[in-house]
Amino acid sequence: RTPIWLDCDTGHDDAFAILLAARSPNVKLLGISTVYGNAPLESTTYNTRAILKAIGREDVPVYAGASRPLRRDAAHAADIHGESGLDGTYCLPQPTVLAHEQGALDAINAVLTAQPAGTAWLVATGTLTNMAMLFERHPALTSHIAGLSIMGGAIGGDFTDAPTGAVLGEGERFGNWTPNAEFNIYCDPEAGHAIFSQAKLAAKTVLIPLDVTHQFLATSTVRMGLLFGAAQSISPERTIADVSPHRRLFFEIATFFAKTYADIFGFKLGPPVHDPLAVVAAFRPDLFVYNDSKDPSASQAERFHVQVVTEGERGNTSEIRSEPSQCGRTVVTPAAPGQPGVTIPRGLDSQSIWVLIEGCLSRTDHA
Ligand code: BDR
Ligand code: CA
Repeated sequence: RTPIWLDCDTGHDDAFAILLAARSPNVKLLGISTVYGNAPLESTTYNTRAILKAIGREDVPVYAGASRPLRRDAAHAADIHGESGLDGTYCLPQPTVLAHEQGALDAINAVLTAQPAGTAWLVATGTLTNMAMLFERHPALTSHIAGLSIMGGAIGGDFTDAPTGAVLGEGERFGNWTPNAEFNIYCDPEAGHAIFSQAKLAAKTVLIPLDVTHQFLATSTVRMGLLFGAAQSISPERTIADVSPHRRLFFEIATFFAKTYADIFGFKLGPPVHDPLAVVAAFRPDLFVYNDSKDPSASQAERFHVQVVTEGERGNTSEIRSEPSQCGRTVVTPAAPGQPGVTIPRGLDSQSIWVLIEGCLSRTDHA
């Protein structure tokens, strides 16, 4: 089993990341740290505890982490996730186990260091403030972990076979918070810069940007599967009253997310469920598609240099969405074949990943 520590800002898609990490037979979930982001820290921590309660995993320790960026004021995504960070459901149970309010960074370091070297993954599905502080405080962790998997960033453009060093997606509009920036990176660009500018850490990092997550949609068929189970047909005898509370919870979460993504971004087929993909990248990298066409003999997937723009105007509300600021943009250039850098997949096997998620719901049914 792959040991994983999850760092998240629990909103709708983070909930799926928790489900996958907590209920996959191939994952040992070591703990969860929370960060401000989709909502203030108090809410993202509460939501995390409530999701763990809903799926019967309140044994997983939760640590509250950073409540604000390294050097800026916090931004929150209430228009996408609601004021609570997890609006749109009455099925969220009241958590019973408290979070640890202090010591997140030292706890992460101690727990990961206790795993055999080269085995444990850190998965970050919120802004990178906790991660930047962690590696600054505990630099030796870089050589101990197997990898760091991050949901964040937006690249843009068709970057197949882009030449080494070319800036990908230049001039296009591809972000979800501003035209240039994805929310997790935008929230704390200095933290993003701190992570990606450490060459040894970058070489162990997998980045799942919007370019990939926008290929993973909770279509209406997927949403019905969450409710009734993929293999079960919907019959008149089987009604919503028969559905287990956690299936109803995940259905309602996905339905709310579908509405905000349709209203704000015009996604008609369903919302992109970003965050579980960063968990999948840690324990099933084979479910992603990488471009190794440039050097078929290379023993590693294609690597990239990632720079985060920290200059430019930065607001704290979604009104910034129309602004042309470059702040929070991930500037991505392909590394020369065989050179170290961040791994960024290009595509994924959506159907197999939904099957993994269905397995987690079903195991929760029978727990
Ligand atoms: C990311 O931002 C958050 O709102 C989501 O939870 C996800 O981690 C997508 O840009
Ligand atoms: Ca998130």
